[in-house]
Amino acid sequence: MVADDAVMQLLVLGSTGSIGLSTLDVAARHPDRYRVLGLAAHSNIGRLRDQCLRFSPRYAAVADPAAADELRRQLAADGCPTEVLGGDDAARELAALDEVDCVVAGIVGAAGLRPTLAAAEQGKRILLANKEVLVMAGALFMEAVRRSGALLMPIDSEHNAIFQCLPDDFATRGLAGAGVRRVLLTASGGPFREAPLERLPEVTPEEACAHPNWSMGRKISLDSATMMNKGLELIEACLLFDAVPEQVDVVLHPQSIVHSMVEYVDGSVLAQLGNPDMRTPIAHALAWPERTTAGVGPLDLVKIGRLDFEAPDLRRYPCLGLAYDALRVGGTACAALNAANEIAVAEFLARRIRFTDIARVVGRVLERLSSQPVRSLDDVLAADQLARNDARSAVRALTAA
Ligand SMILES: NC(=O)c1ccc[n+]([C@@H]2O[C@H](COP(=O)([O-])OP(=O)(O)OC[C@H]3O[C@@H](n4cnc5c(N)ncnc54)[C@H](OP(=O)(O)O)[C@@H]3O)[C@@H](O)[C@H]2O)c1
Repeated sequence: MVADDAVMQLLVLGSTGSIGLSTLDVAARHPDRYRVLGLAAHSNIGRLRDQCLRFSPRYAAVADPAAADELRRQLAADGCPTEVLGGDDAARELAALDEVDCVVAGIVGAAGLRPTLAAAEQGKRILLANKEVLVMAGALFMEAVRRSGALLMPIDSEHNAIFQCLPDDFATRGLAGAGVRRVLLTASGGPFREAPLERLPEVTPEEACAHPNWSMGRKISLDSATMMNKGLELIEACLLFDAVPEQVDVVLHPQSIVHSMVEYVDGSVLAQLGNPDMRTPIAHALAWPERTTAGVGPLDLVKIGRLDFEAPDLRRYPCLGLAYDALRVGGTACAALNAANEIAVAEFLARRIRFTDIARVVGRVLERLSSQPVRSLDDVLAADQLARNDARSAVRALTAA
């Protein structure tokens, strides 16, 4: 439902974050093709106000009600006509609006679930960065996409790369029907790929969030250091491409130039390469099936010189192993994995547990888990809550010890 054939009306969920900023940068390069109709954030109203003044969206959603009131006051004083909606449900309301053509799912964590699901139910074009949505409620979400005819475009760089390496009709043919032998998800290995294992308990949040190649939000940067991010992406890949875990391999590639690969039964391996800049997958997914400029410079392979690959070591990255376990168990296990990880990451960032305790907390939650089938969103939310409580108990046990 594009209101004016030439202009796509965008809703950017998480507009103040790293994905949001990259999306607005691409959109601003093509005002003839994209209009920013709505923005959504949690509480960073300083940045949101600047974005409202620059893009004049019709709507802004702010999850924190007090911050929403303050933004409303400031925008009125600025003479900016943007309508501000406040509260937990505001982003979901915007995602369901008829006038929205395309929803960029760039909220971090479980908070993005309801608005992204609403976009799927309403048949929008969805640019999905918020992988936690698929990890928590993958089957429900994919079913909503199928029922409504939504167009789901992955913008996680790895999944966007896989999408680009698959034939356009892979969804109807399936991976085997399309001649795919396996999918290779690349991973940088994060900042501790070569650190001595005995140093890992002592690393600080600042060191853990300093990604060697990508500039991203704190949670995904930290998840990259533990490789839980690759675990979440493994689950994401299985859902997006209807793959079984055995069809997806993870390979370390420290330069982050090959964003992922698809291997075919005839021995061909197709890869997508590019500079590590999220504007490339975002521009690809916005313009697909066409191509548009993203502001990303050309890839200089001669300057890069070499591309290395190695197998991940699960002793260094136990979170990756936990994600494989959750995927094999199925049901609510992936929602529990995600929830436990969110708690453990927050506790590490607050310096209450050590880096190596993150996997310990998630592992304890999975050990105690009795996985249930996912029939409804309530099942997912109940599993999420239970796992958060279990993770907090595991943290208490660790910090008391
Ligand atoms: N950054 C990347 O390069 C990248 C790459 C691939 C995938 N992803 C995925 O994209 C998602 C976003 O990552 P990011 O790095 O952009 O995170 P980020 O920089 O931390 O930004 C998070 C965004 O979510 C908003 N937010 C948080 N809680 C919210 C809530 N309850 N309601 C509404 N908005 C809320 C934040 O608003 P405030 O600013 O107001 O707090 C902010 O706009 C994650 O799922 C991540 O895994 C990111």
